[in-house]
Amino acid sequence: MWDFLWLFYPLFELKFIIMSNISIFVGTVFGSSIDVANALKNELEQQSFSVNYFEPGTLDDFIQAENIIVCTSTTGSGDLPDEIADLFYQLKESFPLITGIPYAVIGLGDSSYGETFCGAGRQFDSLLEELQGQRVVPLKCFDAIETTQPEIDVLSWVPEYIKQLQKTKGAISNC
Ligand SMILES: Cc1cc2nc3c(=O)[nH]c(=O)nc-3n(C[C@H](O)[C@H](O)[C@H](O)COP(=O)(O)O)c2cc1C
Repeated sequence: MWDFLWLFYPLFELKFIIMSNISIFVGTVFGSSIDVANALKNELEQQSFSVNYFEPGTLDDFIQAENIIVCTSTTGSGDLPDEIADLFYQLKESFPLITGIPYAVIGLGDSSYGETFCGAGRQFDSLLEELQGQRVVPLKCFDAIETTQPEIDVLSWVPEYIKQLQKTKGAISNC
């Protein structure tokens, strides 16, 4: 009897896309992560999301985010770039639970560094899980050995991210 409701499903989807806000938090040493984050921002805006861009942003920015994407390179030996490291350790110390907040992490690294490959991305991904965030897609690592254009490659990551974000939001609102 209520089957006709499915006809309105595209409208619900449209509302989801128009209303969602995504906050991108960027950590970088040489700027490649900025290029990736900017390309990501442009693409998400073209898909009708509103996007906040932080480089790297504050604890308050993080706590208030509706959806979180962290985009960070790795430096030293599996370490976070200085500025986003400050944010990371503030989060670790104050441990604000972000229960159910959808998050994704994009790491830039270089597999020639061996075991510390994408270490910063991995650290952030684990921390957000500990803070009870909802991982939307698995950690995505761009390897400098495999690609010289992560800012282009990230565009093909976006459709799967949006698809899974929709599912995550649906699952949360059905709880
Ligand atoms: C001094 C130095 C240390 C690095 N250490 C690592 C590392 O431990 N693991 C890793 O995956 N990549 C490491 N990298 C590679 C960078 O993460 C990679 O080149 C990345 O694309 C840089 O992005 P950015 O320009 O946003 O900083 C290192 C690069 C430099 C210059």
